[in-house]
Amino acid sequence: MAGRIRTTKKLAQRIDRGYFKRLFPISRWRRVLSFVAVGCGLAWLGLHAVAHDQTPYASGPLTAAHAVLSRNCASCHGQSTALGRKIADKACLSCHDGPVHSAAQTFTPACVDCHVEHRGAEQLATSAGRVCTGCHSDLKVKAGRPGIASNIESFTHGHPEFAALRAGSADPAAIKFNHKIHVKGDVPLKCGECHRPTGIDDTWNFGQTPPIPPPAVAGTMPSGRLAPHALMQPINYYQQCSVCHALTFDDRIPDAAPHDKPEAVHEFVSRKLGEYIAAHPADLGKDNSPRSPAEWVRFRAAEDEKQLWTVTCQRCHDMQPGASDGLPGVPETKIVRRWFTKAEFNHSAHQELQCVSCHPNAATSVKASDILIPGRALCAECHGAGVANAGADCSTCHLYHDWNKARPVDGQFNIRQLTTFDVRRGSGALLSMNSGGDLER
Ligand code: HEC
Ligand code: HEC
Ligand code: HEC
Ligand code: HEC
Ligand code: HEC
Ligand code: HEC
Ligand code: HEC
Ligand code: HEC
Ligand code: HEC
Ligand code: HEC
Repeated sequence: MAGRIRTTKKLAQRIDRGYFKRLFPISRWRRVLSFVAVGCGLAWLGLHAVAHDQTPYASGPLTAAHAVLSRNCASCHGQSTALGRKIADKACLSCHDGPVHSAAQTFTPACVDCHVEHRGAEQLATSAGRVCTGCHSDLKVKAGRPGIASNIESFTHGHPEFAALRAGSADPAAIKFNHKIHVKGDVPLKCGECHRPTGIDDTWNFGQTPPIPPPAVAGTMPSGRLAPHALMQPINYYQQCSVCHALTFDDRIPDAAPHDKPEAVHEFVSRKLGEYIAAHPADLGKDNSPRSPAEWVRFRAAEDEKQLWTVTCQRCHDMQPGASDGLPGVPETKIVRRWFTKAEFNHSAHQELQCVSCHPNAATSVKASDILIPGRALCAECHGAGVANAGADCSTCHLYHDWNKARPVDGQFNIRQLTTFDVRRGSGALLSMNSGGDLER
């Protein structure tokens, strides 16, 4: 059988071996253009290099807070050759402290695991959430077992109820107060007539400027960086109660007793009675009262103070039986100034809401020991429910760094280093100043 003789060699001979070497018009232009484009690019980089500007190598603009550094890549990246390498915490720490999260944590993530860069306006929170649940969805501690909820997947999955609302928690306030009478009674008061965010310095409708400095509350404010209007001002007798609940004690004396310790009240009452009887000696002996001024003062003071301790003060305080000096004690009021110690709430971010939408029980509560703070489910109606702008990310409500442990940073740069494109000289100077010549890991 005579078949067609077509060997592979013959076939190969039909292929034009010069085909790919020859330049047809389109490919020729393609090649010329690519050289021109690369050339232009290099020239552009060259121009920036002459100006010591490395912006072209960045994968995106820096965040707004760091925009000032966009002329000095070296401040984070160290020497220009290290561009793009993982940035050591040391570089960040040369400008600001990032205090440790918890002494109990088993490892410490790098700064750049949470603080993304070159994403422009995008905030650090975008990646921090994932890093948080990386530990908190299965929390491990250095020793023993975690003292807090240990399987938090998100605010809506595994997140515990707030401590103040868990079974067994109580409002420690040792004061008598009845919200219902004040907001629904004969003189219905608005919430804002007793509660106003801190930092708003306005007069109070039913109060006066405290003549006595209010007791220090600083010690009761735990860690955190609360915004100026985040919490409500502490209740103060003079600012919120004095006009309606005056501490007058004797028809003869127009002044009210100071709202102070019983010793100070006793001193005030005796002094005012002494002044009165000096100006009105005819009152001595009237209505079976003593005839000596000193005796008269002691007699009247005892009467007036009995009324004060057992009725006037007693209305708001559970006065404690008198000690050796015969004066009663006033229990520490312990009105909670801040309910969350592990989260940062902010009233001003929610000022468009009615107070009672978050504190519904305030209008009906009859005793101070009622807890009026809202729980997780209420917050989750917006946070975690996809309501625009109401974030569900952990860092919406929590700090990561324990800022109480922050150490001051010694500024290391001069203005020129941060504002000129002088990487070469800038970085040399930075490196020697920062860490003896090595900013990288
Ligand atoms: C505030 C610190 C900071 C400054 C200033 C800075 N960078 Fe970065 N850069 C980063 C961080 C953080 C990364 C992410 C690297 C990592 O994961 O360690 C990064 C990554 C990069 C990368 C790698 C690509 C990427 O996106 O992962 C390049 C390239 C880069 N930077 C270029 C520059 C240039 C060019 C400049 C100057 C215009 C600059 N950077 C200034 C912090 C900085
Ligand atoms: C050359 C100094 C410098 C270096 C290095 C530096 N920063 Fe900053 N950083 C600043 C300045 C300036 C600001 C803006 C002022 C401020 O908030 O302190 C800032 C702000 C921030 C903020 C607050 C952001 C905001 O939106 O308010 C974070 C977070 C931060 N830096 C993290 C980092 C991290 C992480 C690194 C290391 C990758 C780093 N920084 C390196 C100077 C620096
Ligand atoms: C697990 C994620 C995480 C890590 C790791 C981390 N941070 Fe932060 N950082 C945050 C969050 C969340 C905030 C905002 C809440 C806060 O202030 O704690 C923040 C805030 C900051 C701020 C801004 C403070 C301000 O002025 O508002 C600076 C500066 C900062 N971090 C620096 C650092 C440095 C430096 C490191 C590395 C040593 C670091 N961070 C590591 C999550 C992280
Ligand atoms: C490296 C692991 C780790 C990462 C990442 C981490 N945490 Fe924690 N966190 C811990 C440990 C450990 C504790 C302490 C547990 C204990 O006290 O038993 C803790 C405690 C807490 C507490 C309770 C604080 C207190 O005062 O008791 C909160 C709230 C918290 N973390 C939120 C966050 C948030 C928000 C992030 C992300 C920005 C985050 N954590 C990232 C390990 C981590
Ligand atoms: C209308 C209610 C009211 C009356 C009446 C009243 N107080 Fe008070 N008192 C308060 C409130 C509210 C506080 C907590 C806020 C403050 O210190 O102003 C307080 C706090 C105090 C404190 C500080 C207790 C502490 O926490 O250590 C003393 C002392 C005190 N009162 C004494 C008196 C005396 C004495 C009288 C009577 C002469 C009196 N109060 C009458 C409402 C009242
Ligand atoms: C606008 C006037 C007004 C102001 C301001 C006011 N109260 Fe009253 N308070 C009243 C009236 C009216 C009553 C009910 C009638 C009565 O018992 O005298 C009352 C009753 C009370 C009672 C008795 C409640 C009961 O269950 O019988 C207490 C306790 C009290 N107030 C505490 C306070 C405290 C504390 C403040 C400041 C934080 C305050 N009040 C501010 C008007 C006021
Ligand atoms: C979005 C819900 C929400 C709204 C709206 C709201 N609160 Fe609060 N309020 C809270 C939470 C949560 C706390 C506990 C915060 C803390 O102490 O850490 C609180 C605490 C308080 C406290 C105790 C003191 C303090 O600051 O912690 C008072 C008083 C108070 N709120 C009054 C008001 C008044 C008055 C309004 C209306 C002007 C109002 N709240 C609106 C959620 C809300
Ligand atoms: C006459 C003054 C007065 C008015 C008006 C008033 N409050 Fe209060 N509020 C107080 C006093 C005093 C306390 C502290 C004692 C206590 O815990 O009840 C307090 C405490 C609170 C707390 C602290 C949380 C708690 O569990 O104790 C909240 C929340 C609160 N008030 C919300 C409101 C809201 C909402 C309104 C309006 C509907 C309102 N209050 C009206 C005086 C007032
Ligand atoms: C009606 C919806 C709604 C409810 C209910 C609500 N929030 Fe918010 N919350 C928002 C919105 C919207 C923002 C953003 C507002 C802004 O950025 O000014 C916000 C912001 C915040 C912030 C950030 C504040 C800041 O300083 O930027 C915190 C923390 C917060 N909410 C906690 C809570 C807690 C805790 C509760 C429950 C007691 C709660 N929210 C209930 C809508 C809500
Ligand atoms: C809308 C606000 C909000 C968001 C979002 C949020 N939390 Fe919380 N978280 C709180 C409040 C409020 C508390 C109660 C704080 C307290 O009782 O002092 C709390 C308590 C905690 C506690 C302490 C638990 C305990 O056992 O006492 C941890 C841990 C915690 N949150 C972690 C997280 C983590 C991780 C995320 C992100 C997945 C997250 N939270 C998201 C508001 C929030």
